[in-house]
Amino acid sequence: MKFDIALLPGDGVGPEVAAEGVKVLEAVGRRFGHEFTFDEGDIGGIAIDRHGVALPEETLKKCEKSDAVLLGAVGGPKWDDPRAKMRPEDGLLGLRKGLRLFANLRPVKVLPMLLDSTTLKPDTIRGVDLIVVRELTGGLYFGKPKKQWQTARGRKAVDTLAYSEKEIERILKVGFELARNRRKKLASVDKANILESSRLWRQIAIELSAQYPDVELQHMLVDACAMRLIQRPADFDVIVTENMFGDILTDEASMLVGSMGMLPSASLAGVPKEGERTFGLYEPIHGSAPRRAGQNIVNPIAMIMSVAMMLRYSLGLVKEAGAVEKAVSDVLDQGYRTYDIMEQGKKQVGTREMGDLIATRVG
Ligand code: IPM
Ligand code: MG
Repeated sequence: MKFDIALLPGDGVGPEVAAEGVKVLEAVGRRFGHEFTFDEGDIGGIAIDRHGVALPEETLKKCEKSDAVLLGAVGGPKWDDPRAKMRPEDGLLGLRKGLRLFANLRPVKVLPMLLDSTTLKPDTIRGVDLIVVRELTGGLYFGKPKKQWQTARGRKAVDTLAYSEKEIERILKVGFELARNRRKKLASVDKANILESSRLWRQIAIELSAQYPDVELQHMLVDACAMRLIQRPADFDVIVTENMFGDILTDEASMLVGSMGMLPSASLAGVPKEGERTFGLYEPIHGSAPRRAGQNIVNPIAMIMSVAMMLRYSLGLVKEAGAVEKAVSDVLDQGYRTYDIMEQGKKQVGTREMGDLIATRVG
Protein backbone atom coordinates (compact mmCIF):
# COMPACT_ATOMS: atom_id res chain seq x y z
CA MET A 1 0.00 0.00 0.00
CA LYS A 2 0.97 3.63 -0.46
CA PHE A 3 0.85 6.25 2.28
CA ASP A 4 1.52 10.00 2.36
CA ILE A 5 3.13 11.20 5.56
CA ALA A 6 3.40 14.87 6.48
CA LEU A 7 6.81 15.22 8.12
CA LEU A 8 7.35 18.16 10.50
CA PRO A 9 10.84 17.89 12.03
CA GLY A 10 10.59 21.22 13.93
CA ASP A 11 13.23 22.47 16.35
CA GLY A 12 16.06 21.28 18.60
CA VAL A 13 16.46 17.52 18.50
CA GLY A 14 13.27 17.22 16.42
CA PRO A 15 15.02 16.84 13.05
CA GLU A 16 17.48 14.25 14.44
CA VAL A 17 14.81 11.95 15.82
CA ALA A 18 12.50 12.54 12.84
CA ALA A 19 15.25 11.22 10.56
CA GLU A 20 15.36 7.97 12.57
CA GLY A 21 11.57 7.66 12.38
CA VAL A 22 11.78 7.96 8.60
CA LYS A 23 14.59 5.40 8.51
CA VAL A 24 12.46 2.87 10.37
CA LEU A 25 9.38 3.54 8.23
CA GLU A 26 11.44 2.94 5.12
CA ALA A 27 12.58 -0.35 6.59
CA VAL A 28 8.93 -1.26 7.20
CA GLY A 29 8.22 -0.37 3.57
CA ARG A 30 10.96 -2.67 2.30
CA ARG A 31 9.99 -5.60 4.47
CA PHE A 32 6.21 -5.44 4.02
CA GLY A 33 6.01 -3.96 0.52
CA HIS A 34 4.54 -0.53 1.34
CA GLU A 35 5.50 2.81 -0.06
CA PHE A 36 5.78 5.86 2.19
CA THR A 37 6.18 9.35 0.76
CA PHE A 38 7.21 12.25 2.97
CA ASP A 39 6.01 15.79 2.48
CA GLU A 40 8.11 18.03 4.72
CA GLY A 41 6.78 21.19 6.38
CA ASP A 42 7.97 23.82 8.86
CA ILE A 43 6.52 24.26 12.32
CA GLY A 44 7.54 25.99 15.55
CA GLY A 45 10.64 28.17 15.87
CA ILE A 46 12.01 27.33 12.46
CA ALA A 47 8.68 28.36 10.93
CA ILE A 48 8.77 31.67 12.84
CA ASP A 49 12.26 32.30 11.44
CA ARG A 50 11.38 31.34 7.89
CA HIS A 51 7.75 32.46 7.55
CA GLY A 52 7.07 34.76 10.50
CA VAL A 53 4.41 32.39 11.91
CA ALA A 54 4.67 29.23 14.00
CA LEU A 55 2.17 27.38 11.83
CA PRO A 56 2.28 28.41 8.15
CA GLU A 57 -0.94 27.83 6.20
CA GLU A 58 1.04 25.61 3.83
CA THR A 59 2.04 23.28 6.67
CA LEU A 60 -1.55 22.88 7.83
CA LYS A 61 -2.60 22.08 4.23
CA LYS A 62 0.12 19.43 3.91
CA CYS A 63 -1.12 17.80 7.10
CA GLU A 64 -4.75 17.87 5.97
CA LYS A 65 -3.86 16.08 2.73
CA SER A 66 -1.75 13.44 4.44
CA ASP A 67 -2.62 10.00 5.83
CA ALA A 68 -0.83 10.87 9.07
CA VAL A 69 1.53 13.46 10.54
CA LEU A 70 4.92 12.73 12.07
CA LEU A 71 6.30 15.54 14.22
CA GLY A 72 9.71 15.98 15.90
CA ALA A 73 9.46 18.77 18.49
CA VAL A 74 8.99 22.52 18.76
CA GLY A 75 10.57 25.26 20.88
CA GLY A 76 13.92 26.53 22.12
CA PRO A 77 15.59 29.36 24.07
CA LYS A 78 15.84 31.52 20.96
CA TRP A 79 12.05 31.98 20.95
CA ASP A 80 11.42 31.87 24.71
CA ASP A 81 10.90 35.55 25.52
CA PRO A 82 7.65 35.68 27.57
CA ARG A 83 6.77 38.97 25.84
CA ALA A 84 7.06 37.49 22.34
CA LYS A 85 3.88 37.74 20.26
CA MET A 86 4.38 34.38 18.66
CA ARG A 87 5.81 31.26 20.26
CA PRO A 88 6.85 27.94 18.72
CA GLU A 89 4.32 26.18 20.97
CA ASP A 90 1.54 28.15 19.23
CA GLY A 91 2.36 26.12 16.12
CA LEU A 92 1.71 22.86 17.91
CA LEU A 93 -1.47 24.13 19.57
CA GLY A 94 -2.68 25.49 16.22
CA LEU A 95 -2.05 22.15 14.61
CA ARG A 96 -3.88 20.22 17.35
CA LYS A 97 -6.86 22.55 17.08
CA GLY A 98 -6.75 22.89 13.28
CA LEU A 99 -6.65 19.12 12.73
CA ARG A 100 -9.21 18.49 15.55
CA LEU A 101 -6.84 16.15 17.37
CA PHE A 102 -8.80 15.98 20.60
CA ALA A 103 -7.49 12.67 21.94
CA ASN A 104 -3.89 12.40 23.04
CA LEU A 105 -2.73 8.86 23.86
CA ARG A 106 0.41 8.44 25.93
CA PRO A 107 1.25 4.83 26.73
CA VAL A 108 3.70 4.13 29.55
CA LYS A 109 5.05 0.63 29.57
CA VAL A 110 7.99 -0.50 31.66
CA LEU A 111 10.19 -2.91 29.73
CA PRO A 112 11.78 -5.62 31.90
CA MET A 113 15.32 -4.94 30.65
CA LEU A 114 15.07 -1.30 31.76
CA LEU A 115 13.83 -1.98 35.31
CA ASP A 116 17.11 -0.76 36.79
CA SER A 117 17.54 2.36 34.71
CA THR A 118 15.04 4.52 36.60
CA THR A 119 15.23 6.40 39.89
CA LEU A 120 12.35 4.32 41.29
CA LYS A 121 12.64 0.93 42.93
CA PRO A 122 12.29 -1.97 40.47
CA ASP A 123 9.56 -3.49 42.68
CA THR A 124 7.48 -0.33 42.34
CA ILE A 125 7.59 -0.14 38.56
CA ARG A 126 7.60 -3.83 37.64
CA GLY A 127 4.65 -4.60 35.37
CA VAL A 128 3.64 -0.98 34.75
CA ASP A 129 1.55 -0.87 31.58
CA LEU A 130 -0.76 2.11 31.52
CA ILE A 131 -2.04 4.59 29.01
CA VAL A 132 -3.00 8.18 29.64
CA VAL A 133 -5.75 9.62 27.47
CA ARG A 134 -5.35 13.38 27.62
CA GLU A 135 -7.98 15.77 26.25
CA LEU A 136 -6.03 17.95 23.83
CA THR A 137 -8.11 20.74 22.32
CA GLY A 138 -9.99 22.23 25.29
CA GLY A 139 -9.51 23.34 28.86
CA LEU A 140 -6.99 25.91 30.05
CA TYR A 141 -4.96 25.70 26.85
CA PHE A 142 -7.69 27.17 24.69
CA GLY A 143 -10.40 28.69 26.96
CA LYS A 144 -11.28 32.37 26.53
CA PRO A 145 -10.75 34.89 28.06
CA LYS A 146 -7.02 34.34 28.08
CA LYS A 147 -5.09 37.56 28.53
CA GLN A 148 -2.90 39.89 30.54
CA TRP A 149 -3.83 43.48 31.25
CA GLN A 150 -2.88 46.54 33.25
CA THR A 151 -5.07 47.78 36.11
CA ALA A 152 -4.67 50.71 38.49
CA ARG A 153 -3.44 48.24 41.14
CA GLY A 154 -0.94 46.41 38.95
CA ARG A 155 -1.02 43.80 36.22
CA LYS A 156 -3.59 41.01 36.05
CA ALA A 157 -3.90 37.84 33.98
CA VAL A 158 -6.58 35.23 33.35
CA ASP A 159 -6.86 31.78 31.78
CA THR A 160 -10.13 29.92 31.42
CA LEU A 161 -10.94 26.27 32.08
CA ALA A 162 -14.02 25.60 29.98
CA TYR A 163 -15.46 22.32 28.70
CA SER A 164 -18.66 21.45 26.89
CA GLU A 165 -20.60 18.25 27.40
CA LYS A 166 -19.68 17.11 23.88
CA GLU A 167 -15.97 17.63 24.46
CA ILE A 168 -16.04 15.72 27.72
CA GLU A 169 -18.14 12.89 26.35
CA ARG A 170 -15.99 12.21 23.29
CA ILE A 171 -12.75 12.03 25.27
CA LEU A 172 -14.27 9.84 27.98
CA LYS A 173 -15.46 7.50 25.21
CA VAL A 174 -11.89 7.10 24.03
CA GLY A 175 -10.95 6.13 27.57
CA PHE A 176 -13.78 3.62 27.90
CA GLU A 177 -13.10 2.06 24.47
CA LEU A 178 -9.39 1.63 25.17
CA ALA A 179 -10.09 0.18 28.62
CA ARG A 180 -12.58 -2.27 27.13
CA ASN A 181 -9.80 -3.71 24.97
CA ARG A 182 -7.23 -3.80 27.76
CA ARG A 183 -7.58 -4.68 31.46
CA LYS A 184 -10.98 -2.97 31.70
CA LYS A 185 -10.05 -0.41 34.33
CA LEU A 186 -10.63 3.28 33.76
CA ALA A 187 -9.48 6.01 36.15
CA SER A 188 -11.21 9.28 35.36
CA VAL A 189 -9.05 12.02 36.86
CA ASP A 190 -10.52 15.37 37.88
CA LYS A 191 -10.57 17.97 40.65
CA ALA A 192 -14.28 17.70 41.39
CA ASN A 193 -13.85 18.90 44.99
CA ILE A 194 -12.92 22.34 43.63
CA LEU A 195 -13.64 22.80 39.94
CA GLU A 196 -17.07 23.15 38.35
CA SER A 197 -15.73 21.81 35.03
CA SER A 198 -14.59 18.70 36.91
CA ARG A 199 -18.02 18.22 38.46
CA LEU A 200 -19.55 18.18 34.97
CA TRP A 201 -16.77 15.81 33.86
CA ARG A 202 -17.56 13.41 36.71
CA GLN A 203 -21.32 13.43 36.03
CA ILE A 204 -20.77 12.62 32.38
CA ALA A 205 -18.33 9.84 33.29
CA ILE A 206 -20.98 8.29 35.53
CA GLU A 207 -23.66 8.59 32.83
CA LEU A 208 -21.42 7.06 30.15
CA SER A 209 -20.37 4.18 32.36
CA ALA A 210 -23.87 2.72 31.93
CA GLN A 211 -22.87 1.95 28.31
CA TYR A 212 -19.70 0.21 29.49
CA PRO A 213 -20.76 -2.23 32.22
CA ASP A 214 -17.67 -4.33 31.48
CA VAL A 215 -15.33 -1.44 32.41
CA GLU A 216 -14.64 -0.66 36.05
CA LEU A 217 -14.79 3.14 36.42
CA GLN A 218 -12.95 4.87 39.21
CA HIS A 219 -12.90 8.63 39.91
CA MET A 220 -9.66 10.03 41.19
CA LEU A 221 -8.68 13.54 42.18
CA VAL A 222 -5.70 14.77 40.24
CA ASP A 223 -3.51 15.36 43.30
CA ALA A 224 -4.19 11.84 44.55
CA CYS A 225 -3.45 10.50 41.07
CA ALA A 226 -0.07 12.27 41.05
CA MET A 227 0.76 10.49 44.29
CA ARG A 228 -0.53 7.07 43.20
CA LEU A 229 1.47 7.26 39.99
CA ILE A 230 4.72 6.97 41.89
CA GLN A 231 3.37 4.94 44.78
CA ARG A 232 1.56 2.11 43.00
CA PRO A 233 1.82 2.78 39.25
CA ALA A 234 1.18 -0.83 38.27
CA ASP A 235 -2.43 -0.49 39.54
CA PHE A 236 -3.34 1.77 36.61
CA ASP A 237 -4.71 0.60 33.29
CA VAL A 238 -6.29 3.57 31.45
CA ILE A 239 -6.29 7.12 32.82
CA VAL A 240 -8.50 9.74 31.18
CA THR A 241 -8.20 13.41 32.04
CA GLU A 242 -8.44 17.01 30.89
CA ASN A 243 -5.74 18.84 28.97
CA MET A 244 -3.62 20.50 31.67
CA PHE A 245 -3.87 17.64 34.18
CA GLY A 246 -2.80 15.29 31.41
CA ASP A 247 0.15 17.47 30.48
CA ILE A 248 1.48 17.38 34.03
CA LEU A 249 0.69 13.75 34.83
CA THR A 250 2.33 12.46 31.65
CA ASP A 251 5.65 14.13 32.42
CA GLU A 252 5.48 12.49 35.83
CA ALA A 253 4.49 9.14 34.33
CA SER A 254 7.38 9.29 31.88
CA MET A 255 9.78 8.92 34.81
CA LEU A 256 8.37 5.45 35.46
CA VAL A 257 10.22 4.21 32.41
CA GLY A 258 13.40 6.07 33.27
CA SER A 259 13.55 8.51 30.41
CA MET A 260 11.29 10.78 28.43
CA GLY A 261 13.31 9.53 25.49
CA MET A 262 11.30 6.32 25.58
CA LEU A 263 7.74 7.68 25.40
CA PRO A 264 5.70 8.02 22.22
CA SER A 265 2.36 9.74 21.73
CA ALA A 266 -0.55 9.81 19.34
CA SER A 267 -2.98 12.69 18.92
CA LEU A 268 -6.13 11.48 17.24
CA ALA A 269 -9.17 13.00 15.58
CA GLY A 270 -11.47 10.12 16.52
CA VAL A 271 -11.96 7.07 18.69
CA PRO A 272 -9.10 4.69 17.85
CA LYS A 273 -9.74 1.13 16.75
CA GLU A 274 -6.80 -1.14 16.05
CA GLY A 275 -6.51 -1.93 12.38
CA GLU A 276 -8.96 0.84 11.40
CA ARG A 277 -7.70 4.18 10.20
CA THR A 278 -8.09 7.22 12.45
CA PHE A 279 -6.33 10.38 11.37
CA GLY A 280 -3.59 11.42 13.77
CA LEU A 281 -0.36 13.18 14.58
CA TYR A 282 2.51 11.25 16.15
CA GLU A 283 5.32 12.71 18.19
CA PRO A 284 7.74 11.80 20.97
CA ILE A 285 6.77 13.47 24.23
CA HIS A 286 10.30 14.64 25.11
CA GLY A 287 10.19 18.00 23.37
CA SER A 288 13.01 19.86 21.63
CA ALA A 289 15.77 19.39 24.28
CA PRO A 290 17.81 22.27 22.77
CA ARG A 291 20.91 21.57 24.88
CA ARG A 292 21.14 18.06 23.43
CA ALA A 293 20.62 19.08 19.82
CA GLY A 294 23.16 18.45 17.09
CA GLN A 295 25.25 15.99 19.08
CA ASN A 296 23.85 12.67 17.86
CA ILE A 297 23.16 11.62 21.45
CA VAL A 298 19.39 11.73 21.99
CA ASN A 299 17.29 8.63 22.21
CA PRO A 300 15.23 8.10 19.04
CA ILE A 301 13.09 5.34 20.60
CA ALA A 302 10.24 7.68 21.59
CA MET A 303 10.01 8.73 17.94
CA ILE A 304 10.32 5.18 16.64
CA MET A 305 7.60 3.98 19.03
CA SER A 306 5.48 6.91 17.78
CA VAL A 307 5.97 5.52 14.28
CA ALA A 308 4.66 2.18 15.58
CA MET A 309 1.58 3.95 16.96
CA MET A 310 1.06 5.64 13.59
CA LEU A 311 1.21 2.30 11.80
CA ARG A 312 -1.34 0.86 14.24
CA TYR A 313 -3.86 3.68 14.54
CA SER A 314 -3.68 5.77 11.35
CA LEU A 315 -2.44 3.36 8.69
CA GLY A 316 -4.19 0.19 9.81
CA LEU A 317 -0.89 -1.73 9.78
CA VAL A 318 -1.04 -3.70 13.03
CA LYS A 319 1.45 -6.42 12.07
CA GLU A 320 3.96 -3.79 10.94
CA ALA A 321 3.53 -1.89 14.22
CA GLY A 322 4.29 -5.09 16.11
CA ALA A 323 7.43 -5.62 14.03
CA VAL A 324 8.74 -2.16 14.99
CA GLU A 325 7.98 -2.70 18.68
CA LYS A 326 9.70 -6.07 18.59
CA ALA A 327 12.77 -4.58 16.90
CA VAL A 328 13.01 -1.96 19.66
CA SER A 329 12.79 -4.51 22.43
CA ASP A 330 15.30 -6.82 20.68
CA VAL A 331 17.86 -4.03 20.40
CA LEU A 332 17.41 -3.19 24.10
CA ASP A 333 17.63 -6.88 25.01
CA GLN A 334 20.92 -7.04 23.15
CA GLY A 335 22.29 -4.36 25.48
CA TYR A 336 22.31 -1.25 23.28
CA ARG A 337 21.51 2.00 25.10
CA THR A 338 21.51 5.71 24.41
CA TYR A 339 23.02 7.95 27.10
CA ASP A 340 19.70 8.59 28.89
CA ILE A 341 19.12 4.91 29.70
CA MET A 342 22.76 3.85 29.91
CA GLU A 343 23.78 1.40 32.62
CA GLN A 344 27.06 -0.24 33.51
CA GLY A 345 27.95 -3.12 31.22
CA LYS A 346 25.72 -1.95 28.35
CA LYS A 347 26.80 -0.66 24.96
CA GLN A 348 26.28 3.06 24.52
CA VAL A 349 25.29 4.23 21.05
CA GLY A 350 24.23 7.50 19.44
CA THR A 351 20.97 8.57 17.84
CA ARG A 352 21.81 7.37 14.31
CA GLU A 353 23.34 4.11 15.50
CA MET A 354 20.24 3.31 17.57
CA GLY A 355 18.07 4.07 14.54
CA ASP A 356 20.23 1.81 12.34
CA LEU A 357 20.12 -1.04 14.84
CA ILE A 358 16.32 -0.90 15.01
CA ALA A 359 15.82 -0.42 11.26
CA THR A 360 18.05 -3.42 10.49
CA ARG A 361 15.94 -5.63 12.73
CA VAL A 362 12.71 -4.41 11.13
CA GLY A 363 13.69 -4.92 7.55
C1 IPM B 1 3.26 18.33 25.55
C2 IPM B 1 4.04 19.63 25.59
C3 IPM B 1 3.18 20.69 24.95
C4 IPM B 1 1.95 20.86 25.80
C5 IPM B 1 3.87 22.04 24.70
C6 IPM B 1 5.15 21.89 23.91
C7 IPM B 1 2.95 23.01 24.03
O1 IPM B 1 4.40 19.93 26.89
O2 IPM B 1 2.90 17.91 24.44
O3 IPM B 1 3.02 17.75 26.60
O4 IPM B 1 1.98 21.58 26.82
O5 IPM B 1 0.92 20.28 25.47
MG1 MG C 1 3.93 18.41 28.29
